[in-house]
Amino acid sequence: MTTIGVLGGSGAVGRIVVDRLTAWELGKLRVGGRDLERVAKVCAQAPKAHTEPMRVDLNDRDELRGFCADCDVVVNCAGPSYQVLDRVARAALAAGAHYVDAAGDLVAIDALGDAPPTGLADRAAVFSAGLMPGLSGLLPRLLAVDGPPARLDIYVGGAAAIGPLSAVDALLTRGPRFGTALAAWRNGGIAPNALRPLRSVALPGFRGRVHAWPFLSAEASRLAAELGVEELRNYTVYVTEAIPRALAAAWADEDAPLERHVPAVAAAAEADLAATGPYYTMLFQAVHHDPAPGRPRRLELHTPDSYALSGVVAALTARDLLDERIPPGVHLAAEVLSPRETLTLLADDPLVTGVELI
Ligand SMILES: NC(=O)c1ccc[n+]([C@@H]2O[C@H](COP(=O)([O-])OP(=O)(O)OC[C@H]3O[C@@H](n4cnc5c(N)ncnc54)[C@H](OP(=O)(O)O)[C@@H]3O)[C@@H](O)[C@H]2O)c1
Repeated sequence: MTTIGVLGGSGAVGRIVVDRLTAWELGKLRVGGRDLERVAKVCAQAPKAHTEPMRVDLNDRDELRGFCADCDVVVNCAGPSYQVLDRVARAALAAGAHYVDAAGDLVAIDALGDAPPTGLADRAAVFSAGLMPGLSGLLPRLLAVDGPPARLDIYVGGAAAIGPLSAVDALLTRGPRFGTALAAWRNGGIAPNALRPLRSVALPGFRGRVHAWPFLSAEASRLAAELGVEELRNYTVYVTEAIPRALAAAWADEDAPLERHVPAVAAAAEADLAATGPYYTMLFQAVHHDPAPGRPRRLELHTPDSYALSGVVAALTARDLLDERIPPGVHLAAEVLSPRETLTLLADDPLVTGVELI
C-alpha cells in the first residue's frame, strides 16, 4: 500500500494536506509532529482513512529517518522552512521517497545542490509547492499561452494570521536568493530601484484601499526569464502598512535575535485581519503587444485562507508525484505542475471562493 508521510500535519498548511490526501484515498498517511496529541487529533478527524500519527522532531536524525522509512512520498509542512532547508528532503530521498515542500524556495534547492543525494536519479524533490511561492509562479503562465506578454503585473496578498513559525520564515525572506525589493524585471534582467510602493491604491479583487510593495522575487525573475516577458512587476499586497513596518523594524535591528521580532510580525498580521477579515487575492494582469480577441489578459483567484490553499497545492503535487507526472530531479512546483489543470482543480476546491480568467 502507498504510504505518504505528512510532516507538520497538525499545522495550518499540513492539516489541509492530510484532509485532501485522505479524501483522494491515495494510501496510508503517516502524520508527524512533535506533539503526538495534536497529530493524533488530526488523524482522528479522518476516520475512514488509514492514518498513523507519529511523534517526530525533524531535528532528531533517527526520528526523522524513522518517519520517512517506507514512505513513497514525504510532504513537508514543518519549518521554519528557511532554517530546515534540505534536511527533510535528504531524509526522504535517502528512504527512497519523493519529496514535496510547501516552501523551501531556491535556498533549500541550493543547500540540496551542495551534495546532491543519489536518490535523485529516480526520485523527485519539489519545492515551493504553496501559494506564494507556488501558485504565484504557476498561474501567470496562463496569460502567456499564446506567447509572452509585453508586460506582466503580479499582485498577491490580503489578510491572514501569521503563526510564530511562519513569522520566522517571513523574517528570513531576505537576500538575493529570495528577491530584490523595489526591483522590476526589464528586457532580460533585474532593474534595481525601478518601482515605488503603491500606497493606498484600489486594485481589482482587493478590499478597500491597499498597499502594494514591489518585490521582485526569485520566482518572479525565473518566470520572466522563462516566458521572455519584457517587463514584470511583482507586488506583495498588504491591507495596512503594519506588516512591512514590522519587517523593516526587525531588519533594521541587526544585533537582536530574529525571534525577538516574531510577536511584532504576528501582531501586525492580526491588525490586518481586524481591518478586513481573512481574505487573500491573487491578481495577474498582462499587457500584450497584440491584444487579439480571446487572448487572456487577467486572472484573479480568491481564497479566505492562503495557508490552507498552500496545503491544497502541496497535496496536488504529491498526487502528481504518485501518478509519475513529475520527472526525477529537483524542481520548483511552478515549473512542473500544469497551470491549466491546477486552475481547473482549484476552481472546484471549497477553499477557492472565486476564479476569473478573462
Ligand atoms: N508557499 C506558501 O505560500 C506558504 C504559505 C504558508 C506557509 N508556508 C510555509 O509552510 C510551513 C508551515 O507553516 P504553518 O503556518 O502551517 O506552520 P504551523 O501552523 O506552525 O505548523 C507547523 C507544523 O510543523 C510541526 N513542526 C514544527 N516544528 C517541528 C519539528 N521540529 N519537527 C517536527 N514537526 C515540527 C508543528 O507541530 P509541532 O509543533 O507539534 O511539532 C506543526 O504540525 C512554513 O515553513 C511556512 O513558511 C508556505
